[in-house]
Amino acid sequence: TEFISANDLASLLDVSVNEIISTCMSLGMFVSINQRLDAEAITIIADEFGYDVEFTKDIEEEIVEEEEDKPEDLVERAPIVTIMGHVDHGKTSLLDYIRRSKVTAAEAGGITQHIGAYDVRTKDGHKIAFLDTPGHEAFTAMRARGAKITDVAIIVIAADDSIMPQTKEAINHAQVAGVPMIFAINKVDKPNANPNKIKEELANMNLLVEEWGGKYQSQDISAKTGQGVDELLEKVLLEAEILELKANPNKNAVGTVIEASLDKGRGYVATVMIQAGTLHVGDVMVAGSHYGRVKAMFDHTGKKLKEAGPSTPIQILGLSGAPQAGDSLKVYDNEREAREIANSREQIQREQSLRTKKHITLDEIGRRL
Ligand code: GTP
Ligand code: MG
Repeated sequence: TEFISANDLASLLDVSVNEIISTCMSLGMFVSINQRLDAEAITIIADEFGYDVEFTKDIEEEIVEEEEDKPEDLVERAPIVTIMGHVDHGKTSLLDYIRRSKVTAAEAGGITQHIGAYDVRTKDGHKIAFLDTPGHEAFTAMRARGAKITDVAIIVIAADDSIMPQTKEAINHAQVAGVPMIFAINKVDKPNANPNKIKEELANMNLLVEEWGGKYQSQDISAKTGQGVDELLEKVLLEAEILELKANPNKNAVGTVIEASLDKGRGYVATVMIQAGTLHVGDVMVAGSHYGRVKAMFDHTGKKLKEAGPSTPIQILGLSGAPQAGDSLKVYDNEREAREIANSREQIQREQSLRTKKHITLDEIGRRL
């Protein structure tokens, strides 16, 4: 029963495949009829229909066995925020402004290296973790893999422009994923800026902003002058408060891979958002089909860390390869177990890629005929 298609799962659960697909949608996963589902997805979907899944392989058993946290073990955690919007509307400028002016003074001099995630402390000392997803594709890819790591989405819209196709796409992504949105109406320093026109366009899409009596928070900002950025961050914190974000910091770390690559000097480097538990140097981890011991970890300023708790984005050295964006990272007490899980995942991936290859070949033959 590992890696069955959405269609097969439907017949196993005795529901229509459309029900499977729409359930997946509501969970923020896009699947097609013949798409094969991984253990995590199968477990989640089956649960929606009231089934407990029992898998035969070790790798899947651990997913079933994962225990829930006791309420008394949960503590508040910082929100994880993704910034989305149309090309050139100012996402990077906003991120740059926030990073430049808000990053704690502890930041070591020199150039801040680009990593896909970083954390920021507001003037009054609250932490916010930002995800710098370069495009919607990464966001979609992660969600399709069942990773839900965004708590709040900031949708940037240029006030000298209109709601554009990618703005709509971003809004749609956030809505499907059930992530609350805050509209950042940007470039208000420009003489031809017209934030009211944007709010009107939003209203026409049934997205009435708060100052007009609706439920959506919005903030006029300029990523260039910094106007409104503090207020925007306050609104993010307000939204986070409503969500009552919590995690148990006192267990083996669980996180999601944002990006990973091979660095010639340092080996495989993975940027990971820790979501629960605390990761320590020396911990044995599995990320996707790779494993290893945490050799070193760094925050987004390049500062070495000994440990990292919930909602902390970090770079990790020590994995045996580069996992994919959206892969989960987990800590295990036992190195042998970690290796076995990584190896069996690798084998499944290999089998899958063989299948894909076969499919492509057949398709090409078909076209030639
Ligand atoms: P992509 O990454 O290409 O999707 O664009 P982006 O959304 O990251 O936009 P970016 O931050 O690169 O900004 C695009 C252009 O708009 C740049 O030339 C910025 O300098 C300019 N810009 C961004 N924000 C503001 C603003 O608040 N005021 C003014 N006047 N210009 C801005
Ligand atoms: Mg950009």
